[in-house]
Amino acid sequence: MMPIVQTVNLKKYYQQGGNVVKALDGVSLEISAGEFVAIVGTSGSGKSTLLHMMGALDTPTSGKVLINGRDISEKSAEQLTVFRRRHIGFVFQNYNLVPVLNAYENIVLPVQLDGKKVDERLMAKIVELLGLSDKLENLPNTLSGGQQQRVSIARALLAKPEIILADEPTGNLDSKTSQDVLSLLKLTSMKFHQTVVMITHNDAIAQLADRIIRIEDGKLLRNDDK
Ligand SMILES: Nc1ncnc2c1ncn2[C@@H]1O[C@H](COP(=O)(O)OP(=O)(O)O)[C@@H](O)[C@H]1O
Ligand SMILES: [Mg+2]
Repeated sequence: MMPIVQTVNLKKYYQQGGNVVKALDGVSLEISAGEFVAIVGTSGSGKSTLLHMMGALDTPTSGKVLINGRDISEKSAEQLTVFRRRHIGFVFQNYNLVPVLNAYENIVLPVQLDGKKVDERLMAKIVELLGLSDKLENLPNTLSGGQQQRVSIARALLAKPEIILADEPTGNLDSKTSQDVLSLLKLTSMKFHQTVVMITHNDAIAQLADRIIRIEDGKLLRNDDK
């Protein structure tokens, strides 16, 4: 079966003074549809760079990213914006919620930006699964970290993306809340047949994944199938 995400000899080099920083140095990997993959590695190893490339948030120095077999570098900036909104859900460590919008408004924002009608049944289902039903009118600053992260996960899920890319989604949460949020992400992604690629520092969290990809100095170390 064709992988949903594939990178081919992906490189990202930064010029820094007289030096070259090799953030990614020839990463080739394949992720199957429905897989839940954890990316682990020390700080500065290239994890975020890799995730950003997979989500077309950044362009490589060389190499390719294919989503469903299609090279995303062939798309224009405008096409990529629409493509991201429809096919990829991002979950960031700092939640990236809009502070003046309440939880409901934050969750539906990408769907509305896409000019689509909100699927209220799906919305209700997601909100219930994530335990947010009584928090929809809250502004982000009246929610706990875990609740804000669940809002950002709900936002990623509502657009029904095939791929969810999460950069340390539990980085600001205590270990109990991390486990809860991750279990929910795992549950919802299974329910909605989504592929998840998640960066984490946390070994216990990584163990929840189907597969762990290790990266060091911009290179893959090994792929452990559990
Ligand atoms: N915009 C940039 N300019 C210069 N160097 C960068 C830039 N972004 C990332 N880097 C460097 O690339 C390497 C990998 O960064 P990153 O992917 O953010 O690592 P990680 O997410 O694993 O902590 C680091 O050495 C970082 O300093
Ligand atoms: Mg990072």
